[in-house]
Amino acid sequence: MTLLSAALTSLLAASAVQAGPISRRAAAGLNAAAQAAGLEFFGSATDNPELTDSSYMTILNNSDQFGQITPGNSMKWDTIEPSRGTFSFTKGDAIADLADQNNQKLRCHNLVWYNQLPSWVSSGGFDNATLVEILQNHITKEVTHYKGRCYHWDVVNEALEDGGGYRDNVFYKTIGEAYIPIAFAAAAAADPDAKLYYNDYSIEWSSTKHQDAVNIVKLVQSYGVKIDGVGMQAHFTVGQTVTQDAMESAIQDFADLGVEVAITELDIRTTTPATYDALTQQSTDYQTVVNACLAKSACIGITIWDYTDKYSWVPKTFSGYGAALPWDDNLQTKAAYDGILSALGSA
Ligand SMILES: *[C@@H]1O[C@H](CO)[C@@H](O)[C@H](O)[C@H]1NC(C)=O
Ligand SMILES: *[C@@H]1O[C@H](CO)[C@@H](O)[C@H](O)[C@H]1NC(C)=O
Repeated sequence: MTLLSAALTSLLAASAVQAGPISRRAAAGLNAAAQAAGLEFFGSATDNPELTDSSYMTILNNSDQFGQITPGNSMKWDTIEPSRGTFSFTKGDAIADLADQNNQKLRCHNLVWYNQLPSWVSSGGFDNATLVEILQNHITKEVTHYKGRCYHWDVVNEALEDGGGYRDNVFYKTIGEAYIPIAFAAAAAADPDAKLYYNDYSIEWSSTKHQDAVNIVKLVQSYGVKIDGVGMQAHFTVGQTVTQDAMESAIQDFADLGVEVAITELDIRTTTPATYDALTQQSTDYQTVVNACLAKSACIGITIWDYTDKYSWVPKTFSGYGAALPWDDNLQTKAAYDGILSALGSA
């Protein structure tokens, strides 16, 4: 941290103490700062169970903090179409309504993913023509239901293996790589105004997987089908976060194809209990990501994968890790929050 940004951070902290929580919100929030810095939004994922936590909701509802929300689970295939032809939009609607009521954009997530995919799809033994029809029907019904409400759609999620190459999921096995352009075409037909994204992790720096994601954009384009953006999930680990230069150049590779980039699921985990040094490094790492996005005009917004450690997916998924978000378990801001705000403010 430079002396200047350290001074700015303590100035902000001091004025927050003097002015109290209400004027602090009015004066500075992540989304307000992001928009002032030229981004379209700073947002957060959320999920249905936590909508009953009113302390949590007070912060999530504040559009100075979050100009966009993403449903963590409730628009995924297993929730929306648990059995063939039976659609259930209630949980997704709750998040979409919240975004409307609070004047927040909605990133709709996601249409095609190998995970949280009901077994009637993954083990159905369908032939190519039938699975194409199932895929198109699912996308058409869901995108039509939310037509006009989704600022972005994550159309295809995590089509690539960790080390690169297509995941051998039921869609790839049965349809081949054509399932990706087929999915984008169905989404574009159902809601021409939604921005359509490919979303994945470990594509935030130059790697085989990054190059394969570049090739997915080219593949969709080669079919004459619309693709608007690439979501870099950005699930990082403290001290092992990508460098700013590497991330800028990864963003540029997508920009060169005429698509935009959003940071879609940012969190930076550490071993728990988190040490003071880890939380300080985490603040620096968050600033690195924000600075890379701000440096590239193709990078249009940043979403954290929920905003508080209280509801993070990390401890459930990565044993021994946690403390990944800018707000702690008690909904208090951490050094990471001040770091993000200062990176946005110094743009
Ligand atoms: C959050 O926003 C929703 C929609 O505007 C509202 O119904 C709810 O009461 C708000 N909750 C809190 C705690 O502010
Ligand atoms: C399945 O059908 C689609 C057209 O609907 C085609 O693009 C794709 O190549 C076919 N896949 C296989 C494995 O034949």
